[in-house]
Amino acid sequence: MKAVILAAGQGTRLRPVTLTMPKPLVPVANKWLIAYAIDMVKAAGLTEIGIVVNSLEGPIVTTLGSGDSLGVHITYIVQEQQLGLAHATGLCRPFVGDEPFCLFLGDNIFQDKMTRLLVDFPASSAEACIVLGEVPDPTRFGIAVLDGARISGVVEKPKNPPSNLAIAGVYLFRSSIFEAIGKIKPSARGELEITDAIQALIDTGAPVTPYKLDGWFIDAGKPDPIIMANQLVLEQLPYSPPPDESSGKLFGKCEVSHRVLLGENTQIIDSVIRGPVVIGSNTIIRNSYIGPYTALGNDVRVDNSEIEASIVMNNCVIHNIPGRIDRSLLADNAQVITSPRMPATHRFVLAENSYVEV
Ligand code: G1P
Repeated sequence: MKAVILAAGQGTRLRPVTLTMPKPLVPVANKWLIAYAIDMVKAAGLTEIGIVVNSLEGPIVTTLGSGDSLGVHITYIVQEQQLGLAHATGLCRPFVGDEPFCLFLGDNIFQDKMTRLLVDFPASSAEACIVLGEVPDPTRFGIAVLDGARISGVVEKPKNPPSNLAIAGVYLFRSSIFEAIGKIKPSARGELEITDAIQALIDTGAPVTPYKLDGWFIDAGKPDPIIMANQLVLEQLPYSPPPDESSGKLFGKCEVSHRVLLGENTQIIDSVIRGPVVIGSNTIIRNSYIGPYTALGNDVRVDNSEIEASIVMNNCVIHNIPGRIDRSLLADNAQVITSPRMPATHRFVLAENSYVEV
């Protein structure tokens, strides 16, 4: 079985981060969002992966390349116009051929690794299997209605949801989905919806079955859910003992707890770190507090500041900030500093959709 990951979207709900970085490459616990889907697929023994991108020249192709470094083989499929998930899926027909395949929306993170589901689907009697998770806000998702062991209907972002079972962004299909995609028309938002294609498949009488997720799932398409996903993933970090002086990374008077991962050449100087925390390489923390659920990237500088439950990407500077920084998302090269001269004013240089809370 092959796997397909859809990664061509514009990520508008995650601006300004996605103005310079595609959503699939946003780091969650210092790992690209798309790498979570790739790892799940790989864990099920699937190494032939098709990724739908909006350009072959973009950072996804440059960064992931042939997939060798991830232990998979990637084929890129270009969707030039974002005409919907069903349109993107339809473009994958030459890649998957007549074989069953699994489809992942590249922006969801799951506690459940679904290995058995992925392994067992090809030999099962289901025409399609849709992964479902319970959500408190069903108007934001595709929603399924069950009839015994089958899904009897699906509807995209209903105003009056018939259930709280959300389509969670993992689908197992056979080539019959391509005929179903051929039958549907664009939705009110002008897109060919994969949900409508599933309904068309159900309407043929074919058995479409549910798989109910075990544990949490996060649609990580906006800043708050990304920060929550970072927290949930870090919560699962296995125990590792506190790094000590022999690590060569601690200087002065430090207090570093267990479940703190420090990258190469990173220096912790006169600081307190309470895990779970991941810190990339060449980062320097001085006279600061890094609290639980924080992921700091590479080449970050933190001085005289406190931060927790946040994502700070590469090359950021946090300097002399009074009060604790909490649940924040800083993309590459962002700087949060106190004014180095009088008057001690607030000064902002913000991109579209930036958010500042002081
Ligand atoms: C898409 C699908 C929706 C699904 C959701 C899961 O919505 O259309 O059916 O429930 O992903 O994340 P979107 O995130 O594109 O609005």
